[in-house]
Parts: sequence; C-alpha cells; structure tokens
Amino acid sequence: MKLVGLVGWRGMVGSVLMQRMQEEKDFDHIEPVFFSTSNAGGTAPAMAKNEKTLKDANNIDELKKCDIIITCQGGDYTNEVFPQLRAAGWNGHWIDAASSLRMKDDAVIILDPVNLPVIKNALSKGQNNWIGGNCTVSCMLMGVGALYKAGLVEWMSTQTYQAASGGGAQHMRELLTQYGKLHAEVRDLLDDPKSAILEIDRKIIAKQRGFGADEVANFGVPLGGSLIPWIDKDLGNGTSREEWKGMAETNKILGLGEGFGSAPIPVDGFCVRVGAMRCHSQALTFKLKKDVPVDEIEGMIAADNPWAKVVPNNREATIRDLTPVAVTGTLTIPVGRVRKLAMGPEYVGAFTIGDQLLWGAAEPLRRMLRILID
Ligand code: HSE
Repeated sequence: MKLVGLVGWRGMVGSVLMQRMQEEKDFDHIEPVFFSTSNAGGTAPAMAKNEKTLKDANNIDELKKCDIIITCQGGDYTNEVFPQLRAAGWNGHWIDAASSLRMKDDAVIILDPVNLPVIKNALSKGQNNWIGGNCTVSCMLMGVGALYKAGLVEWMSTQTYQAASGGGAQHMRELLTQYGKLHAEVRDLLDDPKSAILEIDRKIIAKQRGFGADEVANFGVPLGGSLIPWIDKDLGNGTSREEWKGMAETNKILGLGEGFGSAPIPVDGFCVRVGAMRCHSQALTFKLKKDVPVDEIEGMIAADNPWAKVVPNNREATIRDLTPVAVTGTLTIPVGRVRKLAMGPEYVGAFTIGDQLLWGAAEPLRRMLRILID
C-alpha cells in the first residue's frame, strides 16, 4: 500500500477531507502517516494504522518517505516546504488544496469529473503536482462543465455570491457573531409587533456602522446584513484576484489557453461575499456559439456527471432546491434558472450552487488520491 502523508487534516478543509475519506473508505487502500506542524510526537487520529504517532510536518526526511502527500495546511506551508522537498529529490505525488502552485506550468488543477483527460495526459508525462482549484471555479464547472466540453461556450460572465467559509473558519464565526449582535440590538422591538420597522432599521444600521475593529477583524467591514463586492487581493487594474481566477483557472482546468496552444475562453464578472455559510452560488450568463434549445442544454448538464442536477426553472423548485441551505453538506451541484436571455437566442442564463468545502476544496483531492492508487 502507498504511504500517504496527511498534512493540515485538522483544519476546516482538512476535517471535511477526513470525513469524506472515511465515508468513501479511502483509508482501506492506503497506509496513512499523519503530520502536524504543532504537535509532532502526539497521537495520530483513529484512522491511523501502523504509524500512530504524529510526524513533524516540517521534517523533510519524514515527508520524503511518503509516496503521496496530501496537504490542506495552506499556502504558507506549501511555499515553505514544497520547494525543499523537491530540492531534496522527492519525486512523490503532491496533492494540495492551497492556491500557491495552481498556475505553475508543471501543476494540474484537479477536477476529474471535468478534466480527467487533462489529468491522465499529465500522468502519462510523469507529472506529480496536483492542485485543487478555486472553489468557485470548481463548483461552477461541476455544474455547467458540459457546455464547455461540448465546445459551445464563446464566453461566460459570472456574478458570484460567495459564502463566509471561503475566507476560513474565523470568518464564519465572525459572520454569525455579527448576526447575533444585530438581533440582540433590536430583540425587544422585534418582540413587539407594533414597533416601527424603520426604527428597527435605524438601530441596525447604527449597530453595523458602529462595529469595532475586533468585530470586523476578518472581513474588515460588516458582512451580516450586508455584502462585500470584493474578494481576495486588489490586482491594481480594477479586478480582484478572485475575479482573475475565474478565467485563468477555468481555462487551465479545461486544458485551454496559452499553455495548451489554444485561445482561452473569456470568463469574467464580479465576485461578491454574502452572508451564506459554506455554499458559493453563481449567476451565469453564457454567449453560446450557436442557438441551442433550453431542453438540450439541460439534458447535457444532467448527463454530464452524477452530481450535477437540473432544477426546473420555476419558482417552487428553485426556492426549494437552488439555495445554499438546500445544498450545504451535499455533493449535489444544482443548476437551475436555465433560460434564454433577452439579448438573443445564443444568450443563456443559469444559476448554480456548490458546497465550497466539498467540491470546492476537499472532494477533488481525495478523488485524485484514488486515481493515483486504484
Ligand atoms: N477564494 C475563495 C473564497 C476560497 O474566498 O471564497 C476558496 O477558493
């Protein structure tokens, strides 16, 4: 059995990964070695088999013994350890949730239901750096990848509604704390059915604007009862890094664009943080290369992979099945609101949602592990 090193398994993405690996019995097929950056020598979790002690995640000699390493430890760890490991001559497979290596020429962004041929091609060439994609991009392609695979997309615009979890666990806590404080501020007025809604509204905005630095430490501004139309760094050209990833990663996942000797498909839009917990939602506008009937589009999406599910474009089905609340904790990627737009027959709208900790982070990693060991 392959010796598989696990790093960052205790954090939020790592914990979701461990849960999924247990559900899919991945540990039956590997010899796990658990690493820690803070508790080397401690006791490994219950999934450990022969090696029941935590190894030092910064010890290159220990890491070098692994055939495969999966890390959810984050970008700083990758930047620090990965170059040392390769410089020390390690030729194992590196599977990483962090974005640090994603756009490197020798790295493949892994999303096998969408790009198994790209993965297989890289494997045949001896490549061994497998990096999880941006959560928003991965969830989007799980939903509407069929249209790209069919070569139908001339361009796509996406407007995202991204959950607090994309920032991390502390961001989720901050959001909920803000909601709690806002509710507490007007609880008495809410309990009184005769109270004036504009009085409640005044108190809420005053509370939001009055949040102290510690109450917005993670997002920088209030998110509870508001939204933030900027995610990740400012690239200095009017675009956020999250928005840049949309086109760069979509094309790299699909094996399109400069590095592959073809023209990239334009993908652009606005990425917005909203007060959802862990599901990223997206409103998509496609310009297709030709007029394709809506039922054919829905048929292609439904047939593409076992997780993409078409939600009928009516009110009842949409509000029941096409929300973060409906999707959280599931691998289902609903795609709904599919309809022709007023701009012309090639213009198609759709709305899709994915759990950003599952398809957006953990699931592609464990599936890559299975591709390597099965
Ligand atoms: N950049 C994403 C977000 C996180 O902030 O929502 C996962 O790629």
